[in-house]
Amino acid sequence: MVDQEAFYRNVVHSLRNGVIAIWRDGSIAVVNDAAYRILGVTASASHIGRPLYEVLGRDHDLTEVLSLAFTDTALPNRAELRLRSSGKTIGYTLCRIADRDGTVSGAALLFKDLTRVEQLEERERLRDRLAALGEMAAAIAHEVKNPLAGIQVVAGVLKRQLPESPDAHELLNDIINEAKMANQIVVQVLEFVRPMSLQVESVSITTVVDDAIATLRGLPAAGRTTIAVDRDTQLPRFDGDRLQLRQLFTNLLTNAVEAMMDGGHIWVTFGYAAADEATEPGEQPDYAGYVTVEVSDDGPGIPDEVTEQMFSPFFTTKPRGTGLGLAIVRKIVNAHDGRIDIRPRAEGGTRFRVRLPVSRLTHVTDTTPSDNRTAGRTHV
Ligand SMILES: Nc1ncnc2c1ncn2[C@@H]1O[C@H](COP(=O)(O)OP(=O)(O)OP(=O)(O)O)[C@@H](O)[C@H]1O
Ligand SMILES: [Mg+2]
Repeated sequence: MVDQEAFYRNVVHSLRNGVIAIWRDGSIAVVNDAAYRILGVTASASHIGRPLYEVLGRDHDLTEVLSLAFTDTALPNRAELRLRSSGKTIGYTLCRIADRDGTVSGAALLFKDLTRVEQLEERERLRDRLAALGEMAAAIAHEVKNPLAGIQVVAGVLKRQLPESPDAHELLNDIINEAKMANQIVVQVLEFVRPMSLQVESVSITTVVDDAIATLRGLPAAGRTTIAVDRDTQLPRFDGDRLQLRQLFTNLLTNAVEAMMDGGHIWVTFGYAAADEATEPGEQPDYAGYVTVEVSDDGPGIPDEVTEQMFSPFFTTKPRGTGLGLAIVRKIVNAHDGRIDIRPRAEGGTRFRVRLPVSRLTHVTDTTPSDNRTAGRTHV
């Protein structure tokens, strides 16, 4: 004979949506595995029969939502909510559980983690914004480039017409240099707003970082900053755009060097984690694993109000900065379906952590460091 009750139980526990059901008195009837996972609570059989508020907390958003089932007449069929406890966004449906004769004996909440969906939507919105900005920037660049070239040409002509006047030459050189700077900004903006198409190849992350470090020589603070690269981790190669990734790390390292004009230390460390350990809640298990790169410095650190804005295009605290460095970093990370986060270092300074997915197809272990250029400590 089929055990129908066990079957119903298994249905509820196998659902990929979270399910929480309570009795009329607020005690827990069912919490399925997905619900525990989304809420980050450790599953325990002892929760059954206990008041929900004891398990989740009296002012937990879901305790409040479930209690509405017995007081509100119109229940939401599809609502969204950002959980205060974890910052996750969930989509939920709330229903009353009624007997055949209509007596309400409990309430059930079905919910789904929308955090990832929301992130994708946010990326979509950003792409749309950038596309609009791109068209505008291309139009402005077109209008601005010609007058800028004109200014440079005219200043050059004037210089030749005033061979005997060193003062005038100095001023004219200033004009030419400023016009060149402005032109560079136009070029950078165009570069930034162009939709990114990746030239994908199999990449060794250590080689990419080596190449990025090589581009730092010649920065004003060069010579006063040391970079230590930790190569002890075995890392897989993965699919990515080598030049874009080099740009990503060049930008992070440049910021670290620029944050420490009087010198300091930078550390680059690598890590690899297989997907089953590293897939975050709500993330699709599309990858074999994730390579992480941390770039830390012992500079002044970043105040909270700067952290909030630093990835926005044109946000800068530097007199001659364009503010595109981190906006480009984010664009490259997103194009690789990666993630980036920033944390202050406990000892002072900043730590950027970049996490890049390794797809199943190219999971080949790369045990040999590209070469020894940056093994140990180097000066830039
Ligand atoms: N490692 C760091 N330490 C301290 N502050 C940082 C660090 N990295 C970035 N910042 C802050 O974030 C701001 C934005 O950085 P971003 O790279 O986007 O622009 P920028 O460096 O100012 O200009 P650009 O990169 O275009 O030359 C910087 O102006 C700086 O205030
Ligand atoms: Mg920068």
